[in-house]
Amino acid sequence: MAAEVILRALRLSVVLLAVCVSLSSNREEGDVGSLVVTILSQADGYHSARAREKKENWLEKLSILDQQIQAVLLAHELPVRVTWTVVPLLPHLAEHYPEASWFFFANEETVVDFELLRTALKRFDDTKVWFLGHGLQDQKRTIIHHYMYHTGTESISYPNFASGWLLSGPALKRAAENVALFAPDFNIDPPFELALFLKYMRTLDVQETIAIPPIGDSGGYLLTHVPQLCMEPALTQGCATAYSHHIPSCGDVEVSKLFIGVKTCEKYHSTRLPVVQGTWARDAEGSVAYYSEVEDKQFLTTDIGVPNTESGHCGKMMAIIERFQAIPELRGREWLVIADDDTLLSVPRLRRLLACYSSHQPILLGEVYGYHAVRPSGYSYVTGGGGMVLSRRAVEMITESGVMCPQDNTPDDMFLGRVAVGLGIHIVHSPLFHQAQPDTFHPSILALQTPVSFHRHRPVDPYTVYQDYLNQSSMAGTDTGSAEDSSSKRGSKQPQTPGNKPGKTEL
Ligand SMILES: *[C@@H]1O[C@H](CO)[C@@H](O)[C@H](O)[C@H]1NC(C)=O
Repeated sequence: MAAEVILRALRLSVVLLAVCVSLSSNREEGDVGSLVVTILSQADGYHSARAREKKENWLEKLSILDQQIQAVLLAHELPVRVTWTVVPLLPHLAEHYPEASWFFFANEETVVDFELLRTALKRFDDTKVWFLGHGLQDQKRTIIHHYMYHTGTESISYPNFASGWLLSGPALKRAAENVALFAPDFNIDPPFELALFLKYMRTLDVQETIAIPPIGDSGGYLLTHVPQLCMEPALTQGCATAYSHHIPSCGDVEVSKLFIGVKTCEKYHSTRLPVVQGTWARDAEGSVAYYSEVEDKQFLTTDIGVPNTESGHCGKMMAIIERFQAIPELRGREWLVIADDDTLLSVPRLRRLLACYSSHQPILLGEVYGYHAVRPSGYSYVTGGGGMVLSRRAVEMITESGVMCPQDNTPDDMFLGRVAVGLGIHIVHSPLFHQAQPDTFHPSILALQTPVSFHRHRPVDPYTVYQDYLNQSSMAGTDTGSAEDSSSKRGSKQPQTPGNKPGKTEL
C-alpha cells in the first residue's frame, strides 16, 4: 500500500515537472494553467496557526495533483496593510505572479477538493477576465451593504468568501491597476465591497464613497456563480469546496474569568436592561455589570462617573477599561467584554470561543470594520454593537499607554480600534459576532454558523432573536473541517504557541 502511494507520488511529480516545462510555451489541452492560492489569514496566534495548518494540508494535497502551483500564501504574511479588505492584496499578487492563470482565495475554514476545483475551472478561458465564486444576492436593502440595491433596482452578486473565490490572471491585473480607486470611507463587508469595486472600478472617484455608485458603463466586471463552490458543511457530491463557521473545540473559559461591562444610560434602564437580565445575562451571573451615569438599585446599575452622551460613548468605555484594570476584585479576570445595552450574546458560546485565544496576547476581538482602512491615516476596529472583547494583555497595554478620549462622546469603538492599531494589539475578526439583527445578514451565511452575538432590540423582538439564534448550546451543522483534516493530519504537528489550541469544529 505504502509503496503504491510512493510510486504514484513519484509518477505524478514527473508529470508535474513535464507540465511545468511545457506550460509557458504550449499548454496541454484540459490544463487549467498555474494557480496562486491565498488564504485570507489573520496574524494573531490562534488564527495564524490554523492558517499555517491549512496551508500545509493544501500543499500536501496539491503535491499529488499534476497541477502547477506558483504559491500557497498566507495573507497576513504579505507586506500589505489591512489584508482583510482584500483589494489591497491585488497589486502585490499582480506584481509577484504576473504569469499565473488563476488566483484562488479562501479562508482558513475552507475545505477544498482541488481536483474538482480544477475540473470546474476547465470551463473558463483564463486568458479572459473572470471573477468566480458562490454568488449571493441581497433580498432587501441592508445596513451592512450601505443600504444599496433594494428590491426593484439592480442588485449585485457578491461571493461568499468561505466557499472560495477566484480571479483569472487578466481579471486580477485589471483590478490591480485600479486599486488606487478603492478607498471607501467605511469597510464593512469585504465580499460585497470587492464585488462593487470590480464592477465600478473604472468610474469610481478616489474621493467618492462607494455608497454612491456611478451610473452607466462601469468598465468593470461581474461575478459569475460557480455551483461547485458550495455553501455546504461538507464536500458532498459535486462540491469542490465546503466550510462551516461553528465554535471550535478549544475548551471552555470559566465564567469567573470573564467580565462583561454593559454600557447603558438612565433612559434605557427600564426598557433594555430587563431584556438583558431576562436572557443572556442569566448565564453570566457574577460576571456582568451595568454601567450608567446613575446608580439604580432596581436594575443593578453602577454609576461609572461619566456623564451620559447622546452618541459616541468613549468616556464611558474608557472608564470601564480602566476599572477592569484598577479594581482588585477583577484582577483574576482574563477577558473584558464591552457590550451595548441592546447587544444580545450567548455567554456559553463566547466562553468556548475565547478558549481558543490566549489572554496573554494583546487581542481585540469581534466583528471587524474599517474606517478609511486602506488610506494611510485609516484603521480597523471592532464594531461595538456586536460586542468588543479585550484580552487582559490588551487592557494592560491600553491603560499603560495613558490614552484618553478626545471627548466623552467620541465614537467608542472607532477610538478603541485606532488606539489598538497604534499599540500593536491584534484586531481579530470573528464572523460569529454581528453588529446588527439577523435579517441584515444573508440567511445562507447564518445557516452555516453558530452565532455569538447580535445587536439591537428593534425592529425585531429581542426575545425572539435570542431564542431563535442564541439560546441553544449549538446550532445545527456538521463537522466539516475535520473531514479534511483527518485525512491529512496524520503526522502533522500541532502548533506550539502557548495558549493556542487549534481544534476541530464542534458538532
Ligand atoms: C432558553 O432555553 C431554555 C431551554 O430551552 C428555556 O428554558 C429558556 O426559557 C430560554 N430562555 C429564553 C430567554 O428564551
